[in-house]
Amino acid sequence: MADLSDMRHPYHGIDFKFDMSDLASRDPIKQFEAWFEDIRKNKKVEEPNAMALATATRSGIPSVRIVLCKNISPEGFTFFTNYESKKGKELEENPQCSLMFYWEPLKRSVRIEGKVEKISTDKSKEYFNSRPKESQIGAIVSNQSTVIPDRQTLDRKLKDLKEQYGGDDVTVPKPDYWGGFLVRPYQFEFWQGQTNRLHDRIQFRKLSDGETFNETLMVKGEGDWIIERLSS
Ligand SMILES: Cc1cc2nc3c(=O)[nH]c(=O)nc-3n(C[C@H](O)[C@H](O)[C@H](O)COP(=O)(O)O)c2cc1C
Repeated sequence: MADLSDMRHPYHGIDFKFDMSDLASRDPIKQFEAWFEDIRKNKKVEEPNAMALATATRSGIPSVRIVLCKNISPEGFTFFTNYESKKGKELEENPQCSLMFYWEPLKRSVRIEGKVEKISTDKSKEYFNSRPKESQIGAIVSNQSTVIPDRQTLDRKLKDLKEQYGGDDVTVPKPDYWGGFLVRPYQFEFWQGQTNRLHDRIQFRKLSDGETFNETLMVKGEGDWIIERLSS
């Protein structure tokens, strides 16, 4: 048993005013890139591109795990995985997903909601071929998310594959079941923690069908994005 009720980490010395006027851009991807650059420069997070990826089955049973974002473009966020893993199967039957980045040193997080699609085989191959051989073998050594009897099963397979693909002139082919997913976002929330716990939350979304622009609550973003402040 562990009573964690007094685990409290005060946000001292945070002075990251974050209002509409502090947005680096009214395009959410560009705003994301600006925050990403800040956390990269901060250097206190080893993998700032690590993101939680939440998926759900067709009937809505959720699951979440960490993956690495490998590309950010105006289209969205790309990660690579085994298409036959739990997440791969869930995304196949339900392409809706949510991403969450948390950058503790800057007390910032970004939540993204979007729809995934598989990237082209050529693009997946291009990335697969750019990876170190060890990572390529890592991608084929395991039938990700399947039940196995023991650790030795993986170790034995790794040893066999290293022998098979060990030579410098031998290349590891990308398996069909491995590749990238592009998350095309339709909603973002940029969260900035504040010392007084009145945290700043700024949301980008698109108007839903039939919804009209509300000048008191909404600010126009780039393209068809609208920007709103959420209560902390
Ligand atoms: C920091 C970190 C980065 C990871 N990056 C990836 C990744 O890019 N792709 C991936 O398939 N799994 C990655 N994993 C492993 C996943 O979290 C997860 O264990 C695995 O993909 C199986 O998930 P699933 O059973 O939900 O499909 C990473 C784990 C951590 C902790």
